[in-house]
Amino acid sequence: MNILIKLFLTGLCITALGIYSIQRGILHVSDVTDRLFLSGKRHLQCTVFPKQSIGPFPSKNRSSCSCDGFALTAQSVKVDELEDLQRRRLEEYEKYQIRMGTNMDSIILAQANSPLQYPTQGFVVPPLTKRLIPGLALYAQRRPLYKVSLSVKSGVLSVEDVLDEQQVDGQGQSELNISSSNLTQLNDLLSRVTYTSTIYHVKTKDLVHFSFEDHEAIFHIVIKRPSVPVLYDPGTDINSQVTITTKTFLRYEELNILINSIRQLYPKIKIIIADDSLMPENVTGNNIEHYIMPPAQGWFAGRNLAVSQVTTKYFLWVDDDYIFNNDTRIESFVEIMEKVPELDVVGGAVGRNQFYFRLQYDEGDEEEGGCLRRFHKKHYQTVPGFKGCFFVDGVVNYFLARTDAVRRVGFDPFLKRVAHTEFFLDGLGDLLIASCKGLTVGHQKKRKQSKYRRFRFPGRNDGKNKLAHHYFKNYMKCIRY
Ligand SMILES: *[C@@H]1O[C@H](CO)[C@@H](O)[C@H](O)[C@H]1NC(C)=O
Ligand SMILES: *[C@@H]1O[C@H](CO)[C@@H](O)[C@H](O)[C@H]1NC(C)=O
Ligand SMILES: *[C@@H]1O[C@H](CO)[C@@H](O)[C@H](O)[C@H]1NC(C)=O
Ligand SMILES: *[C@@H]1O[C@H](CO)[C@@H](O)[C@H](O)[C@H]1NC(C)=O
Ligand SMILES: *[C@@H]1O[C@H](CO)[C@@H](O)[C@H](O)[C@H]1NC(C)=O
Repeated sequence: MNILIKLFLTGLCITALGIYSIQRGILHVSDVTDRLFLSGKRHLQCTVFPKQSIGPFPSKNRSSCSCDGFALTAQSVKVDELEDLQRRRLEEYEKYQIRMGTNMDSIILAQANSPLQYPTQGFVVPPLTKRLIPGLALYAQRRPLYKVSLSVKSGVLSVEDVLDEQQVDGQGQSELNISSSNLTQLNDLLSRVTYTSTIYHVKTKDLVHFSFEDHEAIFHIVIKRPSVPVLYDPGTDINSQVTITTKTFLRYEELNILINSIRQLYPKIKIIIADDSLMPENVTGNNIEHYIMPPAQGWFAGRNLAVSQVTTKYFLWVDDDYIFNNDTRIESFVEIMEKVPELDVVGGAVGRNQFYFRLQYDEGDEEEGGCLRRFHKKHYQTVPGFKGCFFVDGVVNYFLARTDAVRRVGFDPFLKRVAHTEFFLDGLGDLLIASCKGLTVGHQKKRKQSKYRRFRFPGRNDGKNKLAHHYFKNYMKCIRY
């Protein structure tokens, strides 16, 4: 959708008709008035824009959220402990925001009739390094003297190769004034302004205030240490691309059926097993790594251990009671991942169960925390190029994942028993996830396992601890699954 916008170029008072479009999204015009500005007349009355603050403003207006009950504290925290817990939680949250740089998110407005030209985004400076600021310029009508000012917070400014020192005040300081009676010369000086970052940090921002008379502009400089790429050599076949990972607990019979079914189709692929059984048994076979853990460490501890040992680009997560059948094709997962390199996790179906969900997360009030709801069988758009795949927030326990992406999120070992959504909750906003039709694995017939069931299905205390954990760790006020 295109909209027509009129622009005023200061000083010249020319109105320009432009057609604006954006790449990803739709533009809306609010409060459209039918006033038209005349253009083309030589002595056009210049519109005077009232000077208003251009920011930076906070980028979010946070307000209280709710999950219609399901508050975490009411169910899990003792009243006399609550105040102390809340205080510690808020302190940690503030530090988290500093660490993540979310405290630096801000909205900056551009003045309507600004004669100032500057880089609006994309200017990056490594820490403690000097860089030329690209694109600085002034466009203004004739005046006896042109004077612009620039100021920054965590660096210094200077103009390279200045011949007439009279024109530049504040060389090598955080505030720089440049003046000239000749606009061409002023712009020549502006084209040689450098920024030197003086405070070491690996990833932060500085704000530049750039002004001329009543006109003011603010823009960002990103201060960032370039990161080194970490790549996995995919090798030549499925065995060098994928490792199969699983976690077992008291189910050797199932585990052996799974391994045999994998070996029918993939005789050479590496299988990593994390095992926290009470009485570990031997698991034998080629290219199997069997890691024995202290007993009953739990579900996520085991996943973490297994994934920590993967050396391939991807791993395929399976439960110990699955069974590979003739429709199980790891190659199909890999093909999707390779064609859509932004994807981090692709889920399939276990038998007929293609479990997936969407999460609705509201950050909520600064002090109360966020609200989360899970919606079953809800998805987003189709993955481009793959009709049977759509984006989701979480998938079934049968998925192919990018090893490094999942390691960055990790499986919280605090969660010992029933835990699955929790991983996707921790990864929300970091992992791009899809669920695909037609990628299936079988589920073995259920066996009677009284001991196993007692461990897997926890008592009420376990559930309570989990809620208290989310309250602090995820800064949540309420969660509704
Ligand atoms: C936040 O709220 C204030 C006051 O209601 C409003 O002026 C401002 O535009 C809002 N900011 C955002 C980012 O919505
Ligand atoms: C730059 O100009 C402003 C306003 O004209 C003045 O307040 C400031 O001291 C000047 N800075 C330098 C470094 O000369
Ligand atoms: C401004 O300076 C430029 C380059 O130094 C010169 O060519 C031009 O004639 C000057 N303009 C005026 C109005 O002095
Ligand atoms: C497992 O294998 C080791 C080494 O082969 C052997 O010493 C041990 O007795 C076996 N344990 C069981 C429970 O079979
Ligand atoms: C899988 O396919 C093979 C060869 O086509 C066949 O012998 C086998 O019975 C099939 N297995 C199942 C479980 O369908």
